[in-house]
Amino acid sequence: MGVLSSGPASLAGFLLLAATASGSAGGRSEPAPAEAASKILARECYSCHNQVKRSGSLSLHTYRTLMKGGNKGPALVPGRSDESRMIQMVEGLLEPIMPEDGFLAEPDIEVLRAWVDAGAPPWEGDLGRMRLERLPDIRPAETVRPEVASLAFHPGGTMVAAGSYREVRLLRPGGEVQARLTGLAETVRSVVFSPDGSQLASGAGMPSRFGEVKIWDPAARELVRGWEGHTDCIYSVAFSPDGSVLATASYDRLIKLWEVKTGREIRTISGHVDAVYSLAFNPAGDRLASASADRTVKVWDVASGRQLGTPLSGSTAELFTMAFYPGGRRIAAAGTDKMIRIWDLGADGGTLAASVFSHDGPVIDLSLTPDGNTLISAGADGRVKFWDALSLEERKALEAQPDTVLALAVSPSGETLAVGRYDGIVVFEPIP
Ligand code: HEC
Repeated sequence: MGVLSSGPASLAGFLLLAATASGSAGGRSEPAPAEAASKILARECYSCHNQVKRSGSLSLHTYRTLMKGGNKGPALVPGRSDESRMIQMVEGLLEPIMPEDGFLAEPDIEVLRAWVDAGAPPWEGDLGRMRLERLPDIRPAETVRPEVASLAFHPGGTMVAAGSYREVRLLRPGGEVQARLTGLAETVRSVVFSPDGSQLASGAGMPSRFGEVKIWDPAARELVRGWEGHTDCIYSVAFSPDGSVLATASYDRLIKLWEVKTGREIRTISGHVDAVYSLAFNPAGDRLASASADRTVKVWDVASGRQLGTPLSGSTAELFTMAFYPGGRRIAAAGTDKMIRIWDLGADGGTLAASVFSHDGPVIDLSLTPDGNTLISAGADGRVKFWDALSLEERKALEAQPDTVLALAVSPSGETLAVGRYDGIVVFEPIP
């Protein structure tokens, strides 16, 4: 559980790169024009110009898609900011003014202009990822402790796994660290115990390179097996109810099914048009559901890999998290648009059963109690809220946390909630 993370670790990596770059450029401390421009585009423009919502047929997903231009032609002319449509639009010289829902601050316009005049050099990576890494905001590394990016409760209730930068910490419920599992690729964005508790799976990886799956023996605290798959980081891992199959979801838009005891790939499921952030099997194990940045939840037939029915829609922005209700007939999902939605599943898709405006910021994680009565949400606003899982009436909110909550996990008894924060701390709270 818990897909979003940026954290001191990735920040450290970023600072290191920046330092190297400025070293070679003779002590320059300003970010490179391309990087500065891409951050502004990610912050101010990406919400309307992405792969799903391509206003004016212009997508800023990557440098390449930007350079393809939109309906009216090229968005910019390298070296000539005065002749560039996007610059004219942000300056208000060309209608409609961009961003369409506001104005760009003068210093930001200057950065874009300088970048175009410098020949519009490409930036690395894609803006979708930068946007994601902005949540929560990257801030100075005042804490050395890497963030808790994912959490899972052992089915016996005796242990909690906390995925972090390059390690998984095994804690006693209550907090004390018992062991550290190390040797992982970057941030561990997903951890999950097998239903019988004998195995722990972790999902991690390197951006634009590979996803990494590791299977651990949590009692012996040993690696059992590990493999690479996908072409980007893994954001979610889920065991089938019988523990024999592991499903993984990646930023590369794919879902894969693996045989746990060999690491053999069983099948790839493609069908989402953007990153897949969250996955869950239904209790019977014949269905898999996935939530994606393409704003949909899709339900798949595990045996054939085929999509079942129409996607569960209604979300207006990226979905980060989803949960299957214990009966397997209902799904909750949430993400950037701050709404929690629940759908009742039918033969060909699902119908929206309820929705609620839940947080003053994107919803980062959702968890259900084992009885299916309480739905718990963590928002980028630092709040953790408890909802009636059927009516979506708010039952209680925890006091605002001192730092962003990235992951939640419910104890098997349904009595305790583990809350994993950006500052690296796991707190335990009673579930009302
Ligand atoms: C709230 C939504 C929204 C935001 C945010 C936004 N845009 Fe747009 N943009 C649009 C829409 C809608 C159009 C199509 C307008 C039309 O064709 O009348 C458009 C069109 C454009 C076009 C012309 C594409 C073409 O060829 O037709 C450019 C260039 C552009 N936007 C740049 C930007 C930049 C740069 C930013 C950020 C500073 C930005 N936009 C932010 C909604 C948005």
